[in-house]
Amino acid sequence: MGKDFDFEEISFYCRSPIFMCPDCSHAPRCRDLLNLLRIFKLEEKPPEPDYRKLFPWTRPRPEGEVDPNNKLNELGSGEWLKFTRTVLTETFPKTLGHELRRKHPEYKSPFLLGQLLAFFTKERDMVLDPFAGTGSALLAAALMNREAVGFELFKKWIDIYYEICKSHEIPRRKLVQGDCVHLSRYLPAESVDFILMDPPGILKPMEWLGKDVKGEQAFDLFFSMLEELFVNCRKVLRNKKYLAVFTRNLYQEGSYVYITPHFAAAGQQAGFVLKGEKIWENTAEKLRPYGYPHTYVPNVVHYNILIFQKNA
Ligand SMILES: C[S@@+](CC[C@H](N)C(=O)[O-])C[C@H]1O[C@@H](n2cnc3c(N)ncnc32)[C@H](O)[C@@H]1O
Repeated sequence: MGKDFDFEEISFYCRSPIFMCPDCSHAPRCRDLLNLLRIFKLEEKPPEPDYRKLFPWTRPRPEGEVDPNNKLNELGSGEWLKFTRTVLTETFPKTLGHELRRKHPEYKSPFLLGQLLAFFTKERDMVLDPFAGTGSALLAAALMNREAVGFELFKKWIDIYYEICKSHEIPRRKLVQGDCVHLSRYLPAESVDFILMDPPGILKPMEWLGKDVKGEQAFDLFFSMLEELFVNCRKVLRNKKYLAVFTRNLYQEGSYVYITPHFAAAGQQAGFVLKGEKIWENTAEKLRPYGYPHTYVPNVVHYNILIFQKNA
């Protein structure tokens, strides 16, 4: 007989018949029962939380709460006002595949990206994430009943996205493995309602170029890629709709590199109108003692999220 489990491990302390277990007040702590469940691999899976409830501003609205002239989102006036604050310091729950997603050096919380989705889209709108990574925006989109499509160069991040969808039973959104610069070949003109762009770091050219280049050359290549991408994003975005891009300033070779204005210029050059920025403080960022104890070197723990509008 095959040895599927070890009889040695079963030891009974209770004399009641097993059919009484469901009504027994000791059942949650019963060693016999736990033993049996373990051996027959019947351990109860903890119930899956309703992730939709963890997203801000997604509760059903009583009639009259949303202004009938609001064509952009499904928010009440108070929520709309709160979003227009230019600083975002909330912390987000470490759940929804967090342990897998954190393998990516620049993963973002789906609950952070969900805030942008809640303001810039309505249910069933189409969201585009050109640099999808582990698919945080696609997870948020699915849980908030938005359609979405993402692009990502590396299979290892796409696999993580699929694994999270599978283990949490979240409907998959389309994630194309390939270069997002050519996204207008896959998407019809004026088919997207919101673009959420979280580009790779300029100083990590292996991530966006596939080879190592340094200094000014990296900077020039990165922004020429980005300019082309902005132009193609503008083609696929519907008129009056928005694009948000995560930008992060750098400290390099002894000085602060103010990168954000270059992103602003690239977007404007492609014909977008710059509407504002939101500063997001990443409270989970590890602090490093770069200049200690002789010189000031900042720990850049914030992103400048630039908001553009297509205003043809
Ligand atoms: C900042 S990360 C995005 C992280 C993502 N928001 C998340 O939460 O996991 C940027 C991603 O863009 C990908 N990437 C870089 N260049 C790309 C390109 N040309 N087309 C598509 N993806 C690209 C990188 O592999 C990286 O995973």
